[in-house]
Amino acid sequence: MPKTELKEYIVMRNREIENIRDLDVYLASGGYAMAKQALTSMTPAAIIDEVKKSGLRGRGGAGFPTGVKWSFVPKELNPKYLVVNADESEPGTFNNHEIIDENPHQLLEGIVISAFAIGANVAYIYIRGEFAYGARFLEQKIAEARARGLIGKNLFGTGYDVEIYVHRGAGAYICGEETALLESLEGKIGQPRLKPPFPAVAGLYAKPTVVNNVETLTNVPRIIEKGADWFRSFGTEKSPGTKAVSISGHVKKPGNYEIPLGITIREFIFDWAGGMRDPNLPLKFIIPGGASSNWLTEQHLDLPMTWDDMAAAGTMLGSGAMVVLDTSVPVVRAALKVDEFFKHESCGKCSPCREGTHFLVKVWERIDEGHGRVGDIELLADVGKQMLGKCFCPLGDSSVSAVNSAIKFFRPELDAAIDAQH
Ligand code: NAI
Repeated sequence: MPKTELKEYIVMRNREIENIRDLDVYLASGGYAMAKQALTSMTPAAIIDEVKKSGLRGRGGAGFPTGVKWSFVPKELNPKYLVVNADESEPGTFNNHEIIDENPHQLLEGIVISAFAIGANVAYIYIRGEFAYGARFLEQKIAEARARGLIGKNLFGTGYDVEIYVHRGAGAYICGEETALLESLEGKIGQPRLKPPFPAVAGLYAKPTVVNNVETLTNVPRIIEKGADWFRSFGTEKSPGTKAVSISGHVKKPGNYEIPLGITIREFIFDWAGGMRDPNLPLKFIIPGGASSNWLTEQHLDLPMTWDDMAAAGTMLGSGAMVVLDTSVPVVRAALKVDEFFKHESCGKCSPCREGTHFLVKVWERIDEGHGRVGDIELLADVGKQMLGKCFCPLGDSSVSAVNSAIKFFRPELDAAIDAQH
């Protein structure tokens, strides 16, 4: 079957326009014309309506409809904030990184249009602490755009002002969770808040706040330029558009790809990413949507990459982070590595996550080191059961994905690992 082609790039336009990161190149390719058009000839309600019609869903992982989220912001409460979640930290995800470094003005233009649409005059880009270069680079790009009157006061003579500030995190995965991010932005310890209230109603400094991911906002200028119907000509009815997906592990061509939503996992791995690296080592399992997601195996290769299809298969598309592993990988070691990450990143606020991740690692570790005990698999399952749905935020639940997936698909291998130790 021929590879499904992408008609044109929506977010990774750096792949087709050389040096689009430079303001002059971006302007020459029609950049900031959409911001001008939106601010001078569209009402905020019309912009929200177009984004709603496009069916754009949040690219950070949850796939929540963007226009719907914007419409939850109460008009009468001020000030309002737009917060850009650039805390990309999910293991296996590195697609926001490319957008920030290579197509920053499309992101900034998306921020200007979106802030105008929701009635915010201030936007914060909360960027992962480790992205030191990206943070400095964005500040430089904001300064360049401000010097040309594209960000700042009285944009395009409309009287609308918007300031964009870059705020660096301090390297905590949990600060990608939107409410922990807001706490951190307020200068507090990055620990999640209980939802509801959702940030759209009470977010930064308890004011209405829209938190959107980098890729989500980068889609917005093109939706304004070409319209909702054009956007819907990519992807599927319920998952329109494209998705920037990072693929890593044992494939021939790891990296970032912008795919039309709805291609199958088989197409993605074998046509786009070149297939398995070593012909003698076949596919063993896939971590499809970041370390938080439930694993898939060969039987799932024909699953379409959309939010709903992946959810129906008990996993998630997430933020677009596929890790492909071959038969050289021991399941115990893989699960241990995943859960070590969650143990390290648990913020410690709630006991099921703080204690649970610790227990999971302890048990995986002893099996991995050759001291597994009879009953350890049942113990892992039991700890997971006591965590799932009982943690304050999704981080604790995420650590159970590796446990349940390993038991579901590789029970004989786990049993053998323990039997071999007695
Ligand atoms: P969620 O489903 O609770 O919320 C999604 C978004 O919709 C949020 O902005 C939320 O405020 C908004 N929302 C939902 N219901 C609402 C309502 N009734 N009123 C107003 N707003 C509403 O999901 P969550 O916990 O924000 O995100 C989970 C996802 O994050 C996972 O699916 C995972 O893929 C992803 N993730 C991404 C990472 C990355 O590095 N990009 C890291 C870890 C997780």
